[in-house]
Amino acid sequence: MGQKKVIKKEYRITVVGCGHVGLVTGACFAELGYRVCCVDKDKKKVNNLKKLILPFYEPGLFELVEKNYKRGKLEFTTDLKKAIRNVQVIFIAVGTPPNPDGSADLSSLERIAYLVAKNLNSYKLVVEKSTVPVQTGEKIKETILRYRKNSKPFDVASNPEFLREGKAVHDFLHPDRIVIGVESERAEKILRDLYSSLKAPIVVTDINTAEIIKHASNSFLATKISFINAVARICDLAKANIDKVAEAMGLDPRIGKEFLKAGIGYGGFCFPKDLEAFLYISKKLGYEFSLLKEVKRINEEQKKYFVEKVKDYLWILKDKKIAILGLSFKPDTDDMRFAPSLDIIEFFLREKSKPILYDPQARKEAEKLLKGKKVKFAKDPYQAVKDCDCVCFLTEWEEFKHLNFKKIKKLMRMPLIADGRNMLDKRYLESLGFKYLGIGT
Ligand code: UDX
Repeated sequence: MGQKKVIKKEYRITVVGCGHVGLVTGACFAELGYRVCCVDKDKKKVNNLKKLILPFYEPGLFELVEKNYKRGKLEFTTDLKKAIRNVQVIFIAVGTPPNPDGSADLSSLERIAYLVAKNLNSYKLVVEKSTVPVQTGEKIKETILRYRKNSKPFDVASNPEFLREGKAVHDFLHPDRIVIGVESERAEKILRDLYSSLKAPIVVTDINTAEIIKHASNSFLATKISFINAVARICDLAKANIDKVAEAMGLDPRIGKEFLKAGIGYGGFCFPKDLEAFLYISKKLGYEFSLLKEVKRINEEQKKYFVEKVKDYLWILKDKKIAILGLSFKPDTDDMRFAPSLDIIEFFLREKSKPILYDPQARKEAEKLLKGKKVKFAKDPYQAVKDCDCVCFLTEWEEFKHLNFKKIKKLMRMPLIADGRNMLDKRYLESLGFKYLGIGT
């Protein structure tokens, strides 16, 4: 036991990429006691991090970064070469944005592998942390072998991250499982050591299998959401209640209650991109994963369906003032990437409606993405709903559940609520005189 602790402290870690996965990984490893160097090529981001200005909002992360930066466990740099030379373990957490054909852009990974090869001054363990297509580990290994100038040993491993935005720190420190895809005992031991203070089952496998575990997990969760959204459509047609259907289904432990919440569909930087990448890679390997195509189609349709519901009720959307409460792809984050709200706002704009937007955290991000569009932003929900013909709830922020709906009714021109997340109390709102439109309720 004692010996293990000594070895543990010796590991020095570099995390490449200060995005969501990278920064959380770096801060959490620092919190576990390791010396961590977080690298990013974006100078402004790194300078801001040194001033303790974080590039995004994530509950609990600021405190970890501040504490560990001040106690010298966490540092930030743009100097990747030095960051590689100084450590044994390099986690790659750079973005793998989608190419137009759905494949993932892996050029950043190639660059890192090249630099590892050129700076192989001692044994290195190169670990893929962000989601990458299956067989990327093999490519990283080939690249390092191709460019290295000496025979210093190295290993490549896959250690996919399953953290959710908004709960990322908690998910890292309290994982359901830790997946380690390795080719050597040395790599396995290092990764086991690094995680030894976390209580979670560890699944050790080969690298390709670990990569597929990540693809399959995200795609399965997306499938669950599209499944329940399809059932919600049937509930609307049959006048049944999807929330009760999901509740009862979820009580069966084989199904599980998570990810059975019907609504306007999934968004964010992971599900849409990862599903696309899995479809692409399956096809490339020789399998047409048509189930995932349908998952994607249902998800896209769900947003149109929501707007159609409002249109059915209001008849004409032109010149109607539509308050949109909630813009981020889910609560507790300011992330607007692939947020369903963006498509929904676009549909309303096409109908020449006048959207007035409010979000507790994502306004800045939304303003960037909606620059030049005919939308207005409100400073609070009450200002947003003033004289509106409809208020749409697109993100289930906790504060929306505690709004003064009597006040909202007085402020609106037409008391119509379209609840894209089935988050409000339909009966209560109807008792106040609202017309309530949910999804499958
Ligand atoms: C997801 C995975 O959960 C995580 O394990 C992986 O590492 C990254 O991708 P994240 O993108 O942060 O995490 O969001 P998540 O909480 O999974 O939600 C994704 C989307 O699905 C959101 O738009 C959310 O609103 C939607 N969703 C989720 C539903 O519509 N219904 C549900 O029941 C659950």
